Amino acid sequence: MKLIFEQSGKNSEYVPESKAVLREPFGRKELPIPDLGEVQVIRHYTKLSTLNYGVDSGFYPLGSCTMKYNPKINEDVARLPGFAALHPLTPEKSSQGALEMMYELEKDLCEITGMDAFSLQPAAGAHGELTSVMIARKHFGKKRSKILIPDTAHGTNPASGAMCGFGMVTIKSNSRGNIDLDELGKAMTEDVAMLMITNPNTLGLFEEEITKIADIVHAKGGLLYCDGANMNAMMGITRPGDAGFDIMHLNLHKSFSTPHGGGGPGAGPVGVKKFLENYLPVPRVVKGGDRYSLNWKVKGSIGKVGPFFGNFGVLVKAYTYIKAVGPELKLVSEAAVLNANYLMRKLQPHYDLPYDRICAHEFVLTSKKQNEKGVHTMDIAKRLLDYGHHAPTIYFPLVVPEALMIEPTETEPKEKLDEFADSMIKIANEPPELVKSAPVTTPVGRLDGVAAARQPNLRWSNE
Ligand SMILES: Cc1ncc(COP(=O)(O)O)c(C=O)c1O
Repeated sequence: MKLIFEQSGKNSEYVPESKAVLREPFGRKELPIPDLGEVQVIRHYTKLSTLNYGVDSGFYPLGSCTMKYNPKINEDVARLPGFAALHPLTPEKSSQGALEMMYELEKDLCEITGMDAFSLQPAAGAHGELTSVMIARKHFGKKRSKILIPDTAHGTNPASGAMCGFGMVTIKSNSRGNIDLDELGKAMTEDVAMLMITNPNTLGLFEEEITKIADIVHAKGGLLYCDGANMNAMMGITRPGDAGFDIMHLNLHKSFSTPHGGGGPGAGPVGVKKFLENYLPVPRVVKGGDRYSLNWKVKGSIGKVGPFFGNFGVLVKAYTYIKAVGPELKLVSEAAVLNANYLMRKLQPHYDLPYDRICAHEFVLTSKKQNEKGVHTMDIAKRLLDYGHHAPTIYFPLVVPEALMIEPTETEPKEKLDEFADSMIKIANEPPELVKSAPVTTPVGRLDGVAAARQPNLRWSNE
């Protein structure tokens, strides 16, 4: 498809020109913009808009991202003028509805996770992790200097710990893809502030020995942290607070109805047990009688971690979603887990499955069988585009070479899962030359991803 600059000068159709009149000195005779008629501009941008791929247009099995369909009612509610046009500095007496919404959302998140208090301020998952590590730092002061991280944790976890000056120690996983308890026992000393577990982990596997893990960490006085970004696998089924976790974050932009990706906006609320509550960021929304207010004076708080109250619109969407789905949140997670297991078993005869056990909301395959023919994970991901699907997450988690990480989510019907499985099975049996040349039906062919990242050229022309 030609750039709009390349189409310039071919303005032959008749459309009445709109005569915009700009007074001197604002009007210019020559402008370096494409010379095209209105209809050509409209067609160009309409065509461009159809090249976009999103969860509203197709299957998006991007592991670790929970790209589920988000009901439009949540967007409608977030756009209500009473929410969308409310200035964050509006006095408390005129913003009771917004304060009530945040107060209630905190309570709902406590109920869903089993924690005692939440801060809605962090604006992303990694920001929630950082906030949690700051809480651990405040709790221990300089007394403890290390954080333990399993090799199956999300990559942002070690980054968050290191940003707060902790030394990061990796714990190896065992053959079932869970934390190796012997390794943990050896590493868990009184110098360790926290064990940060992604549960279910990045292999899509639930930590089977979670209560034993909690005992090992607590016996040495450490904190147990849950990266709860994968809550879509657990809602209404199990609660991190009941399993022994002291602190956690959620990704509202995964499980609770805001599309994940594109750089935001998101929300990564942090939940804690009672003994850590006073460390949470301020202000806290409090209720006295039937009035809501902001408490800025919490002794021990780590202070503010973001402007105002976090990404307020995302909070409204999460609140609407939770109220609309209600107790059926359990069905959401059950369906997410069922869909993942269904797809995993359909694909197992055709692809290598390194951890052959019931998965949570996602699973990891590899292209080991296809490697024998010279086909690699990148080729399979690109070929999926020709079949009209978004590619899964690839080459992640790092503990699995040639990984394909697939998360179908609960919002996909069985027909879509079957269609995706059929495409994957066809690709597994296609001639290697074809798969390696993919994509062949997309507007552009295979791009040089390394050059795009390292030498980006964002101009339309090199002149
Ligand atoms: C398990 C897990 N933890 C943390 C994060 C980081 O979240 P964010 O991208 O909002 O910073 C993600 C992102 O998808 C995740 O999947």
